[in-house]
Amino acid sequence: MLLITKQIQQAMEGGSWIRRMFDAGIQLKKEFGEDAVCDFSLGNPDLPPPPAVADGLRAMADHAGEPFSFGYMPNAGFDWARNKLADYLSKEQGVTLQGSDVVLGCGAAGALNAFFHSVLEPGDQVFSFRPYFVEYNSYVANHGGVFSTLPSKPETFRLDPEALAAAITPKTRALIINSPNNPTGVIYTKEELAAIIAVLDDASKRNGRPIYLIADEPYRFLAFDGATVPSVLPMYDYSVVVSSFSKNLSLPGERVGYIALSPRMEGREVLVAAITMSTRTLGFVNPPVVGQHLMAAALGTQVDAGIYERRRDLMADVLRRAGYEFQMPAGAFYFFPKAPGGDDIRFVSEKLQAQRILAVPGTGFGGPGHFRLAFCVQEEVIARSYEGFKRALDS
Ligand SMILES: Cc1ncc(COP(=O)(O)O)c(C=O)c1O
Repeated sequence: MLLITKQIQQAMEGGSWIRRMFDAGIQLKKEFGEDAVCDFSLGNPDLPPPPAVADGLRAMADHAGEPFSFGYMPNAGFDWARNKLADYLSKEQGVTLQGSDVVLGCGAAGALNAFFHSVLEPGDQVFSFRPYFVEYNSYVANHGGVFSTLPSKPETFRLDPEALAAAITPKTRALIINSPNNPTGVIYTKEELAAIIAVLDDASKRNGRPIYLIADEPYRFLAFDGATVPSVLPMYDYSVVVSSFSKNLSLPGERVGYIALSPRMEGREVLVAAITMSTRTLGFVNPPVVGQHLMAAALGTQVDAGIYERRRDLMADVLRRAGYEFQMPAGAFYFFPKAPGGDDIRFVSEKLQAQRILAVPGTGFGGPGHFRLAFCVQEEVIARSYEGFKRALDS
């Protein structure tokens, strides 16, 4: 008796690496105590939200007893919140955006689902470069699309326009990129983006319908060593930016995110209306009330990125001294080192776990031979992990 579909069963099996590590972590912590485990498995921001978030919440509480404080609202979010976000994004992205170019949603995840629901015909293809944020697979399959991955440039994890050009078909509908990248920490340059956009532009004309470029940017605020993250919105007619306040305001549980459309896109009102309707019919209905108030109160502030940068430097020092090969992350809060011996699943689930270090095998991100370490943990945990990393390598 099949209680669930084959599709969801496959998704549950395929996407379970982070979950498995999470469960292993609970077990290890129970057995040996919290302080004996170094848990780098989850990208759950541990820094407190900036003070403006708590101030916004207190100000909101003063009005919480009024009628409709928590009522239904337009499905794209409050008009005042969309306008405020559009002003902010205009500066951030270097384009002029109106409130009507922005749809608020339930996190970047909700916004991506509403977008794919609006643009995918059955069997339409969506590409991403490997390694990639594993949930994309489900976000596309949820709406009848086919998710396929492309090789990035060997060793460097950079975008490969030739691989994209060779893979595009008349069914191709979108390419999703993520910069700064989870799990590699790579930030794409303007030149790389221009090369990818040239391919998408040509193919859109050939296919007679747009191939969208989706820039997923929840880590935009976290670019180290003064690096900047170029915007795609001024570069391509069919570009959209998706993001949220999960990481820069440490608000992942409050589920507030958005999608912003390039002002170069002609006729975008139809797409905005479709995403807005999808937000409703998918059952998100509208972005959270509280989240929008917090966003409005805290826009322009962020968690202390310097703390993440110090952790990155400390982690790099630990890994280097222990003898690991890795590329220094330019942004986001992950390392993606090579798995000694090449078998990432074995290295993570046997060697590292034996040292009570939790990581995620690169296989879970379409990047076998590597493993992911999330450094949103206290510096003390990173420093303490050195001996374990060294022993895992030597064993
Ligand atoms: C690359 C990437 N995209 C999207 C998301 C989804 O974030 P949220 O839905 O919390 O905004 C995450 C969360 O970890 C992520 O790492």
